[in-house]
Amino acid sequence: MFDDPFPVKRCVCFNTTFAVLKASGIRSIQEAAEHFGCGTKCGTCIPYIEKMIESGSVEFSVIELPPPMA
Ligand code: FES
Repeated sequence: MFDDPFPVKRCVCFNTTFAVLKASGIRSIQEAAEHFGCGTKCGTCIPYIEKMIESGSVEFSVIELPPPMA
């Protein structure tokens, strides 16, 4: 079975790909939220959108996040 090395491609909550976000020209998480809603529900896409803005990439491997603060 084929394993995608870059399985993270979209904000799942708003079904918006990072490719669409990039093409829209957004330059901040705030703009992604204002125009697409991305980052305003579960927030899982936020670090990926930050990486997209920083690097221009639109497909990512899963980022290991630190555990939530107690
Ligand atoms: S994945 Fe983007 S807000 Fe949930």
